[in-house]
Amino acid sequence: MRFCVTHCISYLARIQVDFMCGAASMSSAGMELQCVLTFLGLVWVARWVLHIVLDVVAALRKFVWARLSKDNLPIKYGGKWAVVTGCTDGIGKECARQLAQRGMNILLIARNKDKLNNVKQLIREESPGVETEIVQVDFSHGRVIYQEIARHVEGKNIGILVNNVGVAFSPPKKFMEASEDEVWGHVNVNVASVVAMTQLVLPGMLARGRGAIINVASIFSSCTIPYLGIYSATKAFVDFFSESLSWELRGSGITVQTLRPGYVITHMSNFAEFYRKPSFLVATTKTYVTSALATLGHSGRTTGYWPHGFQVRPHTSHCREVQMSSSNDRDVFACNKVN
Ligand SMILES: NC(=O)c1ccc[n+]([C@@H]2O[C@H](COP(=O)([O-])OP(=O)(O)OC[C@H]3O[C@@H](n4cnc5c(N)ncnc54)[C@H](OP(=O)(O)O)[C@@H]3O)[C@@H](O)[C@H]2O)c1
Repeated sequence: MRFCVTHCISYLARIQVDFMCGAASMSSAGMELQCVLTFLGLVWVARWVLHIVLDVVAALRKFVWARLSKDNLPIKYGGKWAVVTGCTDGIGKECARQLAQRGMNILLIARNKDKLNNVKQLIREESPGVETEIVQVDFSHGRVIYQEIARHVEGKNIGILVNNVGVAFSPPKKFMEASEDEVWGHVNVNVASVVAMTQLVLPGMLARGRGAIINVASIFSSCTIPYLGIYSATKAFVDFFSESLSWELRGSGITVQTLRPGYVITHMSNFAEFYRKPSFLVATTKTYVTSALATLGHSGRTTGYWPHGFQVRPHTSHCREVQMSSSNDRDVFACNKVN
């Protein structure tokens, strides 16, 4: 290798001199060019292998090592309470259950009183030593609801905030088919709730110098999705906001994590047959949340579940083709992404 490098450098110098003197011989130049190309190829392969090795090490640390070392969450994040928005179903409900199983009291926030009481009861049965409190609000109503939430947050040491609540068209549909309420719903639920909830709990965390904020974005935050355009745009907001906040809070003791799940079996993804059965890429809420919660404190921005990593594109990508079959209740929803 060293021989090849020295050889290539001297060759390039010689070619330049030969070229200037008009004396380069084609046959020797061809051989030497082969040497340069071999060298460049080796450098490219070495870089590629190094990336793969580093990715595998990072994944092992995030998804294997992190699961072996279970932290005491109330101590690590300096507060006994966890706040979970959109906790009556799907990912949020499983998050609330698993955080309670790990000793956190839970402030349950969602819009349906009966479902909130059911989750409260479930947590009481599964984690008897844990306290729960209910806040019934509809995030789509915007600014007016945060006074009520603030009343419940006040006086509690909040260790963890999970900004989970989110809405999407299910099934997906064109922007022009959305009602005004649906449009504002996306903005108030997916965007405003994240910043408003963060603004409510962050001062307490900063005062204690500890805490964790988990912002649930989506794998679609780096991919434009026709028929789910508002959704993917709002998730890009969450992703960007979360990353910026994480940077601003470096050294403060507060962990800000951006979760970017792929497919998880919930009501939101229920519109397509493919998303209703667990598979390599489609996780149950239990599998997903178990994996994602273990990455807290080990990764600042992650899909939370390693098979979902295969779907991530490094840069913003655009959909080339979207198929929706009206014949089968819009069951087919396929999106081929291109950079
Ligand atoms: N599922 C996926 O494949 C997937 C993938 C990537 C990202 N995500 C993200 O993960 C998060 C959770 O999604 P999910 O799939 O678990 O959704 P889900 O099963 O539909 O559950 C959403 C939860 O939020 C509550 N909620 C909805 N609108 C509300 C409102 N206006 N006010 C108060 N609560 C409201 C729901 O309450 P009700 O029970 O009353 O409706 C429910 O508890 C979302 O941010 C979503 O974008 C999901």
